[in-house]
Amino acid sequence: MRASELRLFQEARTQSVAPLRHALSGFCEALSIKDEAIDDIVTAAGEALANAVEHAYAERPAHLPTIELHALFDSGDLALEVVDCGKFVERDPRPWRGFGLRIMRAVAQQMTVDTSDGTRVRLHFSGVARKVNDGQQL
Ligand SMILES: Nc1ncnc2c1ncn2[C@@H]1O[C@H](COP(=O)(O)OP(=O)(O)OP(=O)(O)O)[C@@H](O)[C@H]1O
Ligand SMILES: [Mg+2]
Repeated sequence: MRASELRLFQEARTQSVAPLRHALSGFCEALSIKDEAIDDIVTAAGEALANAVEHAYAERPAHLPTIELHALFDSGDLALEVVDCGKFVERDPRPWRGFGLRIMRAVAQQMTVDTSDGTRVRLHFSGVARKVNDGQQL
């Protein structure tokens, strides 16, 4: 099966997160990704998007703060990227906060955070395709 791709841009505001999560969930369902994997993928994306909205533009306000969600499904694996054009905020751990990056790390098989130009969170989910009865992947 050919690779499938989803690429969405939104203004970086709280109200953008739920529609992006919803669109990602629909994309995953259309590709027959396993239900439990969809939960992990959407949870991780939600944390990364929430971070971009809350933190990315806090220290360096932008004329048009944006967030980008990019998902690529290929050979049974899903690669996810959440990108903003803001500035990564290095800070000491705060009580009751600091779970987002941990959650992403826990649910994805691989995670990298590139802060060289804005913030680009890359998450890799392996073997997420649902199996059909004869054992073949869709
Ligand atoms: N996209 C981003 N842009 C700028 N800073 C970021 C971004 N993502 C994460 N950070 C920085 O990394 C810190 C840790 O992120 P993390 O999601 O783990 O915790 P949190 O957002 O502070 O709290 P929580 O996710 O528990 O609500 C953030 O407080 C922030 O300083
Ligand atoms: Mg967070």
